[in-house]
Amino acid sequence: MLGIRDLSSADINGILDTAENFSEISNREVKKVPALRGKTVINLFFEASTRTRTSFELAAKRLSADAVNISVSSSSLSKGETLLDTAMNLDAMAPDCIVVRHSSAGVPHQLAKVSRAAIVNAGDGSNEHPTQALLDAMTIREHKGKIDGLNVAIIGDILHSRVARSNIHLLTKLGAKVKVAGPGTLVPKDFAYFAEARASPPAGGENYDAAVANALASPHAEPTLQVCENIEEAISDADVVMILRIQRERQDSAYFPTLREYAVHYGLTNERLDLAKKDAIVLHPGPMNRGIEIAFEVADSSRSLILDQVKYGVAVRMAVLYLATGGGLTSKE
Ligand code: CP
Repeated sequence: MLGIRDLSSADINGILDTAENFSEISNREVKKVPALRGKTVINLFFEASTRTRTSFELAAKRLSADAVNISVSSSSLSKGETLLDTAMNLDAMAPDCIVVRHSSAGVPHQLAKVSRAAIVNAGDGSNEHPTQALLDAMTIREHKGKIDGLNVAIIGDILHSRVARSNIHLLTKLGAKVKVAGPGTLVPKDFAYFAEARASPPAGGENYDAAVANALASPHAEPTLQVCENIEEAISDADVVMILRIQRERQDSAYFPTLREYAVHYGLTNERLDLAKKDAIVLHPGPMNRGIEIAFEVADSSRSLILDQVKYGVAVRMAVLYLATGGGLTSKE
């Protein structure tokens, strides 16, 4: 599981159906089934994480796998061992699955080349965060009953967001229409290029994001990915409003003047949310910065499904670990 980009819509629906079947296990008094008994899952996180790391560990344990967390600061990486040597040494201990998060795009793909274990991407730089997009999709499906035909607004730091990329892949594959908006400096120019170039698609070989290629290849008559001039245009008539954090850890220069100014122009307030459909839902992958990209009252409102996303994250990761270690797809019951 290296990215949503590699999956078909049938693959995605199969994972979501499997997650749905696993989700009731977390409601039981004894939250454990033997599905992965005898399997070993290693969590190898080179970046901070609360939700993803904990939910992968809980998912492994609820399926009766042995879960091992490697703390990078106390591993031999701090003594100069290379990442690939670390991976090959872990692989020599015969884990069934290695879940990896790294600040550089492509690290999970490199590990997959040297490891016999299944590699699961838990976020690689600004590239992809596939299980986040899957849990977002599960949240949308649970609350809207479908994804096909929905209008989804993705607001904020699109440029540095692996969550945005995985979601654009997933949502457009499943037939949603995605609108993105943020400061001009934080929306990839290739995305804007897509909006302009749709009428006369490039001959090929140009440098534009895979998500754009994906959207161009879409069988839908209407553009499935649209770059909006402002947040109001993106939110207008949305069924789902997804708010992203400003990812200062990935920013190498000043992309906007001040956080206060960002909050004024791009923060999700109740007034802006009123532009969306009456029953629109609000998602945020977390960690959220209250008062910056999302107002306190929106984060705490009944339209906010932020904690539901975290809940569904455990079920999605159970499904991904199960399927990555050889389990078969289960259909929706
Ligand atoms: N959404 C997400 O990836 O959160 P963490 O960084 O806490 O894992």
